[in-house]
Amino acid sequence: MDKAAHNIYPVNELVRKRWSPRAFSEKPVEEEKLNSLFEAARWAPSAFNEQPWRFIVGRKGNEVYDKIMQSLVEWNRQWAGRAPVLVLNLARKTFSHNNKPNGVALYDLGQAVAFMILEAVNQGLISHEMSGFDAGEAARLLEIPESFQAVSVTAFGYYGDPDALPRDMYESETGKRQRKNPGEIVFGAGGRPVV
Ligand SMILES: Cc1cc2nc3c(=O)[nH]c(=O)nc-3n(C[C@H](O)[C@H](O)[C@H](O)COP(=O)(O)O)c2cc1C
Repeated sequence: MDKAAHNIYPVNELVRKRWSPRAFSEKPVEEEKLNSLFEAARWAPSAFNEQPWRFIVGRKGNEVYDKIMQSLVEWNRQWAGRAPVLVLNLARKTFSHNNKPNGVALYDLGQAVAFMILEAVNQGLISHEMSGFDAGEAARLLEIPESFQAVSVTAFGYYGDPDALPRDMYESETGKRQRKNPGEIVFGAGGRPVV
């Protein structure tokens, strides 16, 4: 399905083609493609080069996958259970050089995940991020140390059959993508538009 951005200004193809489908095929993701996703994450920038991101990888059929699935809210479980890979995204809460709280750890994690999902497009994969999960439950099931925060889950895989989705999901899967206009998000001094 073509859900590429209907962009106003030119952007690179990875940004243009990425979107968040729910119709996953059950085709497994090759090990080397998965490695490239984490390689992309590794090269994201971070404050003090802390690299606070950590990833717990579940592959369909293994215990980690089942535990990540168990932590998802019911809505996400309905579609995410077809994805062959579920990754739990974690952030280290403090800086390692002084043990003080890292106020940008979630920001840095978000950048690393953004790198991963763009690399996924490059590898011919689809991705879908989720905050609809119980972080406490994930921490308990996966024995995550107190010094890390479970922030989100990303599903990775290949595109499947949108007709297999429940009705409401089918509609959002096939509907037009929505975005704010540049003038609503980019400002000069005093809130004056710059684009
Ligand atoms: C941090 C984050 C949390 C999200 N949580 C969910 C979720 O729990 N369930 C879901 O179906 N989609 C979730 N999404 C997907 C968004 O709804 C989607 O990115 C947004 O509608 C824009 O669509 P696009 O990614 O196709 O451009 C999440 C996305 C992000 C970045």
